[in-house]
Amino acid sequence: MSEVVIVANAEVAGHYASDCIIDLVKAKPDSVLGLATGSTPQPVYRELSRRQHDVDFSRMRAFALDEYIGLPTDHPESYRAVLNREVVQPLGLNPGSVKVPNGRASDSSHAGADYEREIHAAGGIDLQILGIGTDGHIGFNEPSSSFASLTRVKTLTPQTRADNARFFDSADDVPMHCVTQGIGTILRARHLILLAFGSAKAEALAAAVEGPLTASMPASAIQMHPHVTVFVDEEAAASLANADYYRWVFDNRPEWQTF
Ligand code: PGA
Repeated sequence: MSEVVIVANAEVAGHYASDCIIDLVKAKPDSVLGLATGSTPQPVYRELSRRQHDVDFSRMRAFALDEYIGLPTDHPESYRAVLNREVVQPLGLNPGSVKVPNGRASDSSHAGADYEREIHAAGGIDLQILGIGTDGHIGFNEPSSSFASLTRVKTLTPQTRADNARFFDSADDVPMHCVTQGIGTILRARHLILLAFGSAKAEALAAAVEGPLTASMPASAIQMHPHVTVFVDEEAAASLANADYYRWVFDNRPEWQTF
């Protein structure tokens, strides 16, 4: 099962997730990270930036989970721009070491296959950071996405466009389409760290961790992965049936155990 760690707040989760990333990069300097965007991973990126002198990130490589289709390349909400701002610049990375799916509408028919080839050529993703949408998406794999799906074009749900409207002038400005790693792509990463904060995520998080496996709840696919760590604050943990057990497990972790 997933290891579920209920933390006091997003900053604590950011600290734990950064520990995992820093330990990984110390052991394997050219590690390949999978990077989520949105509000959820920001505490992780802030903490990595604070601790950037603890480890040499210069050989680390990364792949974004997804990208909108059709935004101008210099649009501040393109995920290329977001990751430049939140990860590449603060950590002093070479921009070329962070790959983002190609969101140019004219190339979108082969953007998915091209991206899969790049991930494969890099040796696969060692550690994938994930958020979860209020509709249960991971990446932009909206409900009904196949668990075997690979990187491809998807259409965002009205719910996702409304959720992401806060980053744009209006909901109508949120792109309709995206290129996203598939659920099958995500499941190939060697370690998944899923983060969820706030009460708006409680229902989806509980369904993902404890509900039935179903394409209607794309994040439930994480139950099939052998190494998943879920960091969740109290609000997002509110609907978990087994919260007391997760706390018990954490309080009784063997000394030697790492995430
Ligand atoms: P959020 O999005 O972090 O902006 O809430 C999560 C997601 O859509 O994966």
